[in-house]
Amino acid sequence: YYGSVVNPVNLGTFKALPSCLLAVGPTGNIDWIAEHVGDSMVQETMAAHGYVDVEVVCLREGEFIMPGLIDTHTHASQVPNLGSGQQYELLDWLDKVTFPMESRFSDLDFAMRSYASVVRRIIDSGTTTCCYFGTIHLEGTKVLAETVHASGQRAFVGKCDMDRNSPSYYIEPSAEASISAAKAFISHVRQLPSNSDSAEPLVQPILTPRFAITCTASLLKSLGGLAASDPNLRIQTHISENPNEVAFTTSLFPECSSYADVYASFGLLRANTILAHAVHLNDEEIELVAQTKAGISHCPTSNFNLNSGVAPIGIYLDRGIKVGLGTDVSGGYSPSILSAIRNASIASKVVAMQHRGDPLKPAEFANKQLSVASLLYLATLGGAEVCNLEKSVGSFSVGKSFDALVVSVRDDAGNPAMWGLDLTSRSLGGRLEQFFFCGDDRNISRVFVQGKLIGGTAYAR
Ligand code: GUN
Ligand code: FE
Repeated sequence: YYGSVVNPVNLGTFKALPSCLLAVGPTGNIDWIAEHVGDSMVQETMAAHGYVDVEVVCLREGEFIMPGLIDTHTHASQVPNLGSGQQYELLDWLDKVTFPMESRFSDLDFAMRSYASVVRRIIDSGTTTCCYFGTIHLEGTKVLAETVHASGQRAFVGKCDMDRNSPSYYIEPSAEASISAAKAFISHVRQLPSNSDSAEPLVQPILTPRFAITCTASLLKSLGGLAASDPNLRIQTHISENPNEVAFTTSLFPECSSYADVYASFGLLRANTILAHAVHLNDEEIELVAQTKAGISHCPTSNFNLNSGVAPIGIYLDRGIKVGLGTDVSGGYSPSILSAIRNASIASKVVAMQHRGDPLKPAEFANKQLSVASLLYLATLGGAEVCNLEKSVGSFSVGKSFDALVVSVRDDAGNPAMWGLDLTSRSLGGRLEQFFFCGDDRNISRVFVQGKLIGGTAYAR
């Protein structure tokens, strides 16, 4: 690929490379990158790397390549509820709209039809790696894993574990039943045939205790045992999203010192645990998350929409905690990480407004608005770190997988500048910012996972 490439480096920096040559080998891994190559030097640079008779895909003016977006937290089974129930806060929302919808996924035909459209829509939104919650249904969640597998997306898929504080029509009959379905689900996903040359299989199971409220101590204990016997198994759950949820949780586990301590004491807080929300953690919990190296999925669209609160992401970043973005559909009303990016920006500005006038230290993130570089980082490399996939995805470097988007500011008819701008009037970094705040899936023309085209407006379906 030859043209404009955007590559995140760290929370404060990204590279904007207007004439980059990026070589993807037959396995879908990046072979080499030449960051600054003039038009006249393309063939010569290829030859110097031993690339003879290799096709060069030249990006058009107004197009750029960036790493694929990573959604560290979403519920595939809640997509049919998008944009409804937002008059409720978390616990009522679960009861009134979410559990009723999820219960419908016992119907395999409904599951097949829903998941096919959900996964397609998420891929076309530019999400190349996705952490999915399914439902409590073993068969229905197998359908989700198979649908994702067939699509070529990179993903973690989890069957929800919940054996209490759930309605009679949507609950697992016992801790034993929940664990045995979890084990069956894990084996099933691990037996799916390999469909790429990726270092780890594209689709992997993830242990998914829904949250402490819906899990008995006996279930959490068994899940912790399962996790201990399988150190590479990722874990995902919710934490400290809403004040009433926090109060209910601590009342259910009086022997634990905090919400985070519930997960820690059952062996569920570790370096490959993904904690969604973390809006209301206290200092002791922040310390526990930092020490265990668990990652946080920041879901700002959902946190605004369900009136949950504003997560202090700057504090977590200062503490060195891994943070990625999550859409948390349908707590969040959009399946696109672009919405999470915008709301992460607004959330950070809300925090900054509350601290206007406070002395700010130069190197810190706390109480400041997030920069475009930070937003890019959270949506890509930060998400990769949260998934423990930072060695293979999240940015472009030699040996990493080519999980990427071609972003285009042309309109559907191929006219330049769909935002009414002269293409030359903005820098590459400026176009990235414009895509983040004004773009949508019409601007994502190609979506690649492990070098393979799997979606976007130019994908034939
Ligand atoms: N906590 C427990 N379950 C859920 C869920 O489905 N969505 C959100 N946002 N929070 C939860
Ligand atoms: Fe969620």
